[in-house]
Parts: sequence; C-alpha cells; structure tokens
Amino acid sequence: MKTMQETFNALEFTDAALTLLDQRVLPTRLEYIVCRDYREVEFAIRDMIVRGAPAIGATAAYGYYLAACEFSAAADRSAFMTRLKEASLFLEQSRPTAVNLRWALRRMQTVADAAVKQPMDELLSQLKREADAVKQEDIDTNRAISRIGNDIVPDHATILTHCNTGALATAGWGTALGVIKEAVRSGKEIFVYADETRPRLQGARLTAWELMQAEIPSKLISDSAAATLIRDGKIDCVILGGDRVAANGDVCNKIGTFMLSVVCKAYGVPFYSVVPVTTIDFEIETGDDIPIEERDAQEVTHVEGVRIAPEGMAVYNPAFDVTPHQNITGIITEAGIIRPPFKEHIQKIRKAYGI
Ligand code: MRU
Repeated sequence: MKTMQETFNALEFTDAALTLLDQRVLPTRLEYIVCRDYREVEFAIRDMIVRGAPAIGATAAYGYYLAACEFSAAADRSAFMTRLKEASLFLEQSRPTAVNLRWALRRMQTVADAAVKQPMDELLSQLKREADAVKQEDIDTNRAISRIGNDIVPDHATILTHCNTGALATAGWGTALGVIKEAVRSGKEIFVYADETRPRLQGARLTAWELMQAEIPSKLISDSAAATLIRDGKIDCVILGGDRVAANGDVCNKIGTFMLSVVCKAYGVPFYSVVPVTTIDFEIETGDDIPIEERDAQEVTHVEGVRIAPEGMAVYNPAFDVTPHQNITGIITEAGIIRPPFKEHIQKIRKAYGI
C-alpha cells in the first residue's frame, strides 16, 4: 500500500469565514480567498474560485450558514426565514448545471425549517453542524467510491481523464481522480493521460497539479489528441466525473465528455463516470432536461487574459455536455456501480436511499 496524503485544503470554514483555495490562479499562484458573507460565496462559485460539483455543494452549504448568521438579528422569525430563502435562491443561481448545489441548499433548508422554533443560537449551531456534515460526508463518500471504483481498474492500466475531479473539485480526495489515486495507493501501476480541458483548462492547470502532487506517472495532452490515443489502443479506460446524472443514466459533465464517449464506443474502450449519489437528479428523466451553463465568450477568445481570436468574433461557449447512457459502461457511485439497464438501477438506488 502506498501512502497518499493531500497537501492542501481547498475549502475550510474557520473563524466565521469560508477560506477557499483560488482555483482561478492555480498552479502558478497558491492563493486563498476569504468569504465572509453569502454574497462573497455566490461570487466565488460563479467566478469559479471554487468549482467541481461536490465542492460547490459544500461551499453553498456554508454560504447558507453565513446568510443565516447575517439575518439572525431580523425582527422576527418569519422575516428571517424569508430572507434566508431569498439568499438560498441567490446562491442556487450562481451555476445552473451541477445538481449538488441545489441538493446542499435544500438540505440546509430542511434543517432550518425543522429548527424554526428553536432559539436563534440553537438554530445557527444546527446549520453550522449541517454544513460541516455536508463537507465531511462528501470526503467519506469519495473514499468509499474510490474503493468500489478500484475494482474496474486493471493493474498496469493507462487511464484517460477529463477536467478536474480530485480534491479540488470536491470537499476532499476526489471522485474519478479519487478512483485513480486509490488504484495507485493499492499498489497498481497506473499511467494517466489528462486532457487539458479547454477553455478553462481544468486538466492542464488543476488535474496536472494534483497528479504531480500525488506523484502519479502521467502526461498532459491537448483535448484533440485523445481520439488518436483511443483509436491506437493506448487507453484501457476513460474515467471522469459528472455534474448531473439524469434518471435514465445520461451524464452531464464538462464539455468534451460526450465527444470522448463517442470515440470510446467506436473503439470498444470502457467509459466510466464517477459520481456521488448526490449528483444524481432523480427528478429529471433524461439528459435533455439538464440546464447547460453557457459562460463568458472571453473564456474562448482569450488565454490567460491574452486575446487569441479576432475582436468582435461571436462565440458559443457551453460549459457542459450530455453523454447518452448508451455510450456509458458504468456509473461508479458509493451505492455501487450502476450498469445497464441504467434506469432500473437508478430507480433501485432512489428507493434504497428513500429519495
Ligand atoms: O466547470 P467545472 O470546473 O465546475 O466543471 C467540473 C466538472 O465538470 C467535473 O468533471 C465534475 O464537477 C465532477 S467533479 C468531482
């Protein structure tokens, strides 16, 4: 067994403030941003100081708690609850695709509703405990997913991954990158190809950084190089994350994921998405119903603040795409590996979790 320790903490709540590792400037600068109120938390999510579906869920939970602290002096409890609901909606709209955000805020709301008649100190401490639980449960869940996912990773595997799904994208450890780290930790010899992941370069900036910290043998590739590697038999499996899974098993993830799935299907390469159950949206039937965030044109026209496209060029910049379940070998979760028929298996998980 190899030991593997994380050397950074991307998300920490201390002294009435949320401290976030600024993922916009990694890996060239290691800087932290302190959010002291829910508006700053909303900005941190929207501007991608923090990103990754589980990480923004945990961040939003602390944002909710900060809002409750701010409104605790409200004239009466009903005014307090109204303002809290407004703040929750404000936090929820910061990024529309990852369902973990809505899930975490609903969970906080449930606690607030149940404790509405409690003294304010008690209500606030229940909310703080809940936000801490959202964070800790995500770390524990990632560890469990990693152990389950390790079963599908052959020794000496070469794995291709996309975007960033490690400790930076979660409350700690990671989902797809968690599976890869667990495989290495368990003694397997693994090689990783990391897609750079245009336009935000989460692969080049963040996954490459995490892979190097974990000392996992790896190479960074441009997104366009992936298909050739897959066709040439150089990839044993593709393992990546997910931002929202529909009830039929369609997976919405970082833009470029769908394209990878098509190539994998064409060449018979296993394609896995790794997500906590909190990323499954049981209320949405198919991927067609998932709202896809479109981001600023400047993410495409500029690289590191330098313009690369002609002034005035129009841009289409969806941040995510949907991979149809037909292209997916399995969805790895803490409740086990979901395989076809996806709809039935997802339904069973819903029942087992009472969702
Ligand atoms: O736009 P981002 O960087 O928030 O997108 C992140 C992803 O698409 C990840 O693959 C997904 O959130 C899973 S993270 C464990």
